[in-house]
Amino acid sequence: MTQDSALEKIEDIEIRLLLEAIYYQYHYDFRNYAMASIKRRLKRAREQLGFATISAMQEGVLHDPTVLSQLLGYLTVQVSDMFRDPRYFRALRERVLPHLRTYPSLKIWIAGCSSGEEVYSLAILFREEGLESRTIFYATDINHDALQAAESGIYDLDRIQQFTENHRAAGGKSSLSDYYRTAYGKASFDKTLRQHVVFSDHSLVTDAVFGEMNLISCRNVLIYFDRPLQDRAVGLFVDSLARRGFLGLGAKESLRFSAHADGFKDFAREERIYQRLDR
Ligand SMILES: C[S@@+](CC[C@H](N)C(=O)[O-])C[C@H]1O[C@@H](n2cnc3c(N)ncnc32)[C@H](O)[C@@H]1O
Repeated sequence: MTQDSALEKIEDIEIRLLLEAIYYQYHYDFRNYAMASIKRRLKRAREQLGFATISAMQEGVLHDPTVLSQLLGYLTVQVSDMFRDPRYFRALRERVLPHLRTYPSLKIWIAGCSSGEEVYSLAILFREEGLESRTIFYATDINHDALQAAESGIYDLDRIQQFTENHRAAGGKSSLSDYYRTAYGKASFDKTLRQHVVFSDHSLVTDAVFGEMNLISCRNVLIYFDRPLQDRAVGLFVDSLARRGFLGLGAKESLRFSAHADGFKDFAREERIYQRLDR
């Protein structure tokens, strides 16, 4: 064994021990996340937070909760966008909403909502389609900083051009500028968009089902889990969906290899929208 591969092996052991420590001390469970990306991100955290080794970082996090909040910033990926992959939102608008429209009240779960871009996208879409007033949106994540940002609905102004293009490509029926005001280099989204939204802390790894959802949008979250953990999360979705409810995933995600694949049918294959089978 070369010296490099011996060091690599030690670092693997240290990473596993660190993830156990975080779980036992704080109940955040990253032990079954896709290992290659966890390793990359923890190495970056070690360098940037100034720890000599992963073991030193473990000692740090066990004794200092502020290190945990810093580490959560590395362990969870917060990239998001409004109307991200506009085709998904167009398919919701044109194909899913005609079904949802037949219900007197609606529950929508945005699992892994990050800093809220997906939440505001859905609230705007539902408002444009006249469904907002009968809908409750549950927006959940494990990252508190992200949830706080989501609740504030404030984004850097330099992101607005992309948001606007995406909104248009998603078939937007209004002007995005109707929904925000600008000041000091920021765009602040209209707080009435949040009046039907409940933000809460919920982990797809350690927490239980949410009942009777008509649509669950969980995009670009499962990609960070290993296969058994993806199965657990999709199992939660099966149990949380109303009969013939919809599940939307990210553009690079699919149910094709899921243990629960036979509980769903492809509804909009390209846009990764599935419908729970009625049985
Ligand atoms: C890349 S963002 C996706 C944001 C948004 N859904 C989108 O597609 O733009 C992934 C989010 O999943 C959240 N996340 C990671 N592990 C989670 C878990 N176990 N339960 C719930 N959310 C989780 C992260 O904190 C992060 O906000």
